[in-house]
Amino acid sequence: MNVKFDFSGKNFVLIGASSGIGRQAAIELAESGANVLAVGRNLTRLDSLKETNTQKIFIAQIDVTAASQDDWQAAFTDFVGKVGKIDGGVYSAGIVGLTPLNSFDRELAHKIFDTSFWGMINFMQTAAKKKFSNAGSSFVLMSSLAADFGTKSLFAYSAAKAAVKAAVKPIAKEIIRNRHRVNTVSPAMVKTDMLGNITYESEVTEEEIARYLLGLGKAEDISGMILFLLSDRAAWITGQNFSLDGGYLLN
Ligand SMILES: NC(=O)c1ccc[n+]([C@@H]2O[C@H](COP(=O)([O-])OP(=O)(O)OC[C@H]3O[C@@H](n4cnc5c(N)ncnc54)[C@H](OP(=O)(O)O)[C@@H]3O)[C@@H](O)[C@H]2O)c1
Repeated sequence: MNVKFDFSGKNFVLIGASSGIGRQAAIELAESGANVLAVGRNLTRLDSLKETNTQKIFIAQIDVTAASQDDWQAAFTDFVGKVGKIDGGVYSAGIVGLTPLNSFDRELAHKIFDTSFWGMINFMQTAAKKKFSNAGSSFVLMSSLAADFGTKSLFAYSAAKAAVKAAVKPIAKEIIRNRHRVNTVSPAMVKTDMLGNITYESEVTEEEIARYLLGLGKAEDISGMILFLLSDRAAWITGQNFSLDGGYLLN
């Protein structure tokens, strides 16, 4: 069975759309009829994403660790001016890096947190405003299985992803005033550029991979859940977390 969504006439903003899970979700949303504002830092990769659907995909170069509220407002004002108010968004920006407690790299640890957590807060603050989003908008934020299960030297990443998962509940209670919904998705290991990060990859042993009953994840294993949560079929779901792990925790 091939489940398709119809997002014709809908508009979404995707942060961290130049690669991996965000890119896959952007492509599928555009294929399903939505206008998509794809945000990231790497213009070459954003341009290559736009090439997949020049009519539906718009791009904006934003570094979430450096963007001011004015930068966010400007990006939303421009997109909303072109296509109309948004119907939701996905925050998929994230970086991973090993920072052993004993000698941790303070700058890297803060950057990991700023990218996954504070960037998300700035995004949500802007995106949930009435002037930018239609009532009933749906948002999906990326947490991780790492929020609950520790890997050595990954405290900054685990803490940042746990913060995202914790923040979703109060945020859900606040944005319901505009009938908006927000949920988190927590994947285990998914084969994207992130997994290719040299230091991170070195922690991924054969034994670890063998625990995945369904093998390591692919970006499209996660984008299906993202599209579902953005859709009206998820209209009664807010403030929840969805773990997608390919059977990892069973084993
Ligand atoms: N892959 C996994 O195993 C896995 C597992 C659990 C959770 N996750 C989470 O899922 C999300 C997507 O991960 P992925 O696997 O798709 O990783 P990815 O392929 O490395 O993509 C990460 C995205 O984040 C963007 N990004 C990073 N820093 C940014 C910044 N400062 N400003 C703006 N954009 C920034 C990147 O864009 P630019 O480089 O263009 O800036 C890229 O589009 C992340 O939040 C990650 O933590 C991944």
